[in-house]
Amino acid sequence: MPLPESFIQELKVRSDLADLASNYVSLKHSGKNLVGLCPFHSEKSPSFNIYPENGSFYCFGCGVGGDVITFVRRIENLDYMEAIRFLAQRAGMQVPEAEVDDGMAKLRTRVLEINRETARYYYSVLNSEEGRGGREYFAHRALKPETIRHFGLGFSPASRFALVNLLEKKGYTQNEMVLANVAFQSRSGRAVDRFFGRAMFPIIDLRGNVVAFGGRTLGDDKPKYLNTSETPVFNKGSMLFALNFAKNVNSQRLILCEGYMDVIALHQAGFQEAVATLGTSLTSAQARLMARYAKEIVICYDSDAPGQKAASRAIPILREAGLIVRVLTVAGGKDPDEYIKANGPLKFKQLLDDCGNDVEYRLQKARLGLNLQNPEQRVEYLNAAASILSTLENRIEQEVYAGRLAQEAGINTSTVMNQILAYGKKNRKKQLKKQFKSVQQQTAGLRDRVNPEKAGNLRAAGAEESLIAHILKFPESAKKIAEVLPPEKFITEFNRRVYAIIVGRITNGNTAGLAELSQELNMDEISSVARMLAAQDGISLTWPDVQEYISVISQENDKKIMSRDDSLQAEDIEDYLNRLRQQKK
Ligand code: UTP
Ligand code: MN
Repeated sequence: MPLPESFIQELKVRSDLADLASNYVSLKHSGKNLVGLCPFHSEKSPSFNIYPENGSFYCFGCGVGGDVITFVRRIENLDYMEAIRFLAQRAGMQVPEAEVDDGMAKLRTRVLEINRETARYYYSVLNSEEGRGGREYFAHRALKPETIRHFGLGFSPASRFALVNLLEKKGYTQNEMVLANVAFQSRSGRAVDRFFGRAMFPIIDLRGNVVAFGGRTLGDDKPKYLNTSETPVFNKGSMLFALNFAKNVNSQRLILCEGYMDVIALHQAGFQEAVATLGTSLTSAQARLMARYAKEIVICYDSDAPGQKAASRAIPILREAGLIVRVLTVAGGKDPDEYIKANGPLKFKQLLDDCGNDVEYRLQKARLGLNLQNPEQRVEYLNAAASILSTLENRIEQEVYAGRLAQEAGINTSTVMNQILAYGKKNRKKQLKKQFKSVQQQTAGLRDRVNPEKAGNLRAAGAEESLIAHILKFPESAKKIAEVLPPEKFITEFNRRVYAIIVGRITNGNTAGLAELSQELNMDEISSVARMLAAQDGISLTWPDVQEYISVISQENDKKIMSRDDSLQAEDIEDYLNRLRQQKK
């Protein structure tokens, strides 16, 4: 059921996009618009624009755009109704009651409740007779009782139906349990506990909701950790374990670990800024999330080969998000958990303070296994090192390292510097080529997933988009345009749908802006409409311009019909020839 018009209108008026966005992005004025670094992708120069005139935003870098509701949905990871509630609360408004039973939001609430009940249950089992194995396990891992309580660790009993039965008694359906992924459906159709006989680690989001679990086997069976898969409330690539605690430390530094146990051991030892990914390699969404709470990341992965490989992969992703990166390697212990157990927190603190930044780490890696006395290997090292240094933004940093390299290899600093600059030039060329290609593809409509017909109808689609933007900006023009150009005339299906929604709303006496469209379009589609608006920023179409676009669309229509006739004729000719052949036989 749609929300009342009056409610949406008031919410829109009370939710200023620029005002809201400035809580997440640092914005600068640029003429009548605002620009900043896009919060939805990593970039170094600002391509994120806000157009106060029509309350829209658009990023020319990643193509994401929309209105204030879309912004909240994307940045807070909410669905439509949740975003409405978020904005309403901020504006001090009450969401009309009829809307409270929104399907998806309701399901999410149920899943979160199930997760909370489940976490409580596992915690209570840990402290009961059935939980002995779990208690012994945590004791063996040297966890103190207060640490177990702090993280809400628990134990899932060996019985396969304990949780399902409990949740059923509390009024949750088996279907809901399966959706929450705390149970799975057996072949008979009955829900079965997903976790049994495992040490349980609840995963908690920034609002304190239990969103998922990791369950570790006490023995050697596989998988070692069984994790919640994707659910309506959980996406592992955008979550970090223990960030709910780490964000409160406010040290502008986070320690990034590989595992749950590493993080817990570090927190217990006083390093509460430790977080971990959830069994997958680091994503750029996670890097950007960290960048909201820290300037510097210390990577503290396992010291084995896979751990070091994962560290190398994480470095550029973190740097892209604007973070300073240092790499801490725990020599003589497989992972930070074991290191602290063996050497104590003070030793770890020393490692933390002494570990170099990622440049040194990468240089060390490039040098590994090479004999610098050997001229060939020395050249190999210098080249690899120059290539690493060429990726640094800071010229001073480059010169410092170049000096060190020169000394190491017994050559001139300027020679090293020249090589670095040459690589830098090559990188930039590559970068430019990539950018150019992507712009080319975008303008050619090749990549337009929202409007796949655009590629084959560039001329018509361009006119359609200009008209859509024009009507959104000047709704009073809609009637006059629609009289000569009914939606059926639009060539591309997506633009036709957007145009029909707008014209329909306006003719019914309603308003039509991005906020209203966002009830009917998905987020990619809204981005697409925001792009149309952004493309026409600062341009005002005159009536002759509008007429020109209308006639372009009409011409393209005629062409379509003609080509249909052509093909008919071609078929006719084919038929005729066939008949001739028949006659000759
Ligand atoms: P590790 O194998 O390094 O485990 O995996 P760990 O954290 O040191 O675990 P302990 O000390 O043996 O208990 C690192 C992380 O990868 C994920 C988990 O998040 C784990 O903490 N992982 C690992 C899985 O999700 N599934 C697995 O089967 C193994
Ligand atoms: Mn471990």
